[in-house]
This record gives sequence, structure tokens and C-alpha cells, in this order.
Amino acid sequence: MLARAGATASPIGAFRGLAQTLRQTMKLTGRTVLLTGGGTGIGRALARQLADKGNSVLICGRRLERLEETATGSSDIHPYRCDLTSSDDIQQMLDAIERDGHRVDTVISNAAIFGFDTLAGGLDLQEAKQIIDANLYGPIELTQRMLDGLRETSDPAIIIVGSPGGLGPLANTPIYSSSKAGLHAYTLCLRYHLDGEIRVIEVFPPVVDTPALAEKNWKKMSSEECARRMVREIERGQEQVWIGESRMFRFLRLVLPPGRLFRVVNDWSPPEQG
Ligand SMILES: NC(=O)c1ccc[n+]([C@@H]2O[C@H](COP(=O)([O-])OP(=O)(O)OC[C@H]3O[C@@H](n4cnc5c(N)ncnc54)[C@H](OP(=O)(O)O)[C@@H]3O)[C@@H](O)[C@H]2O)c1
Repeated sequence: MLARAGATASPIGAFRGLAQTLRQTMKLTGRTVLLTGGGTGIGRALARQLADKGNSVLICGRRLERLEETATGSSDIHPYRCDLTSSDDIQQMLDAIERDGHRVDTVISNAAIFGFDTLAGGLDLQEAKQIIDANLYGPIELTQRMLDGLRETSDPAIIIVGSPGGLGPLANTPIYSSSKAGLHAYTLCLRYHLDGEIRVIEVFPPVVDTPALAEKNWKKMSSEECARRMVREIERGQEQVWIGESRMFRFLRLVLPPGRLFRVVNDWSPPEQG
């Protein structure tokens, strides 16, 4: 069921072949993908690239007009309005997808909301709950409701878009970081329990130029480049996909104890745009 790459003749080739055999390559073509948050940013770029690669891409989000903009010019992108914080919305979307005859074999949980706060002046509790519901509980509910259907497809996959902030909290995005930390824990447990049945992949983007960070003058990767690298690394069979500067974060995590990592991450500020 899962494709494995073979070794080649030279020692380096043999080593690469072995390394690849330990991973499992994955084709991102000819699939039916449900992608959350496809109306903007990384999700929009991903939807278009996946459609260009011959996938049928079902995108969801709260603003139908944004989803329709993403779908403009492609007959392979199909918008569904859904607020992931609403159980009724999730069920209605899944019913509509079934009615439309789609059989989803790949779920990409990409939708999320950011929130900046210092906590010092009192937290907007309603906003905090919304962030946790959209970024953590929503993806959990959607994933759990889709498991039975995914199991009936060949080579199913669940791809979770996380954040380095979920591993080393960013002090200025405390609730967002908490939601991504929870999502990371859920992803690890999911992979453990679905081992051999469904691939579970986690993606860690760097700072990316999307509406969510429009006001920040940081140096950012474009959404298109981020999506392109995501697709490439997922196809290589990586379980954890680290993109651009997030790879530095992976390294720091290996060499620093958690308390020190927290300090280093929060004493560092992203470079400004040149
Ligand atoms: N940009 C970065 O630098 C960066 C860095 C690390 C990780 N990430 C991660 O990458 C992913 C994409 O982020 P992005 O920067 O592309 O953000 P974005 O442009 O703000 O896109 C997020 C999408 O999620 C949708 N969404 C939000 N709440 C939702 C809800 N309750 N139900 C359904 N859809 C909802 C939004 O559409 P509606 O508002 O229409 O619902 C929006 O299209 C996120 O998981 C984020 O945490 C981003």
C-alpha cells in the first residue's frame, strides 16, 4: 500500500536508498484533499498547487467569498463554508461533501487564527476561547469524525499544520502558542494510535507572508514558496516537515533544555523587512 523507494548502486546512493526506505514516500497527486482555511494565505497557495498537481481539493473556511476567489479558474477546487468551531457546521460540511460524491483520502488541517497578547493587562477570554476552539478543538473534532471514512481509502493521510510556537512558546502569542502546543500533543498521540493505518504528518512553517501577519514588518517567506516546500517534503515521506527558518528551531530544540529554549526564542526577534 505505501510506496518504498529502492537503493541505487553507489555507496552514497545506497545510503540514500536506505534512508528513503526508512521513510515512506507519498504521492500528492490523484487524491481528494479536504483542506481547511483554503481561502487565504498558505491554504490558498496550497489549494492551487494541489489542484495543479491533479488533486481534487475541497476547501473550507468561514468566508465563502474568499474560498470562491481561491477556486476561480479551477474546476478542481470546491469551496465549502464551514466554521470549525461549530459542530453543526462540521457535520453539515461532511454531509455536503458526501452528497457531492467526494471520497476524501487526505485531510489538511491548516485553518487557524492568531492572537497577540502580553497577558499583563488582562486577557480577552472570549477571544482566547475562540482561538483554542478554532486551532485545537476544531481540528480534533474534524479529524475524529473523518477517521472511519479515511480508513476506507487507499493510502490515507492526515496533515496537521502546526507552528514552532507550539514547541517553544512565543510569549507574545500565548493562547495561539498554547493551542499549537495542544495540537502538537494531539498529533503525536494520533500518529502513535494510527501507526500503519493512516499517515500522520505535522508541518512547521516559518514566518510566512499571509493576511494573519500583514501588519508585521518581519522578513517573511511567500505563501507560494511555503506551500511548494510543504508539498515537496511531504512527498519525500517526512513525518515532520520543517520549512525555512523553522529548521533552526528544530536544531535549537535538540540542543537546548526547554527553559533555555524559551528564553532564546523570546529574546530573539524576527529580522525586519529590508
Ligand atoms: N503565517 C505564518 O507565519 C505561520 C507560521 C507558522 C505557522 N502558521 C500556520 O499556518 C496555517 C495557515 O496560516 P496563515 O498564515 O496562512 O493564516 P491565514 O491567512 O489567516 O489563514 C487562516 C485561514 O483559516 C481560516 N479560519 C480561521 N478560523 C476558522 C474557523 N473557525 N473555521 C474555519 N476556517 C477558519 C480563515 O478563513 P476564514 O476567516 O474565512 O474562516 C483563513 O483562511 C495556520 O495553521 C498557522 O498557524 C503560519
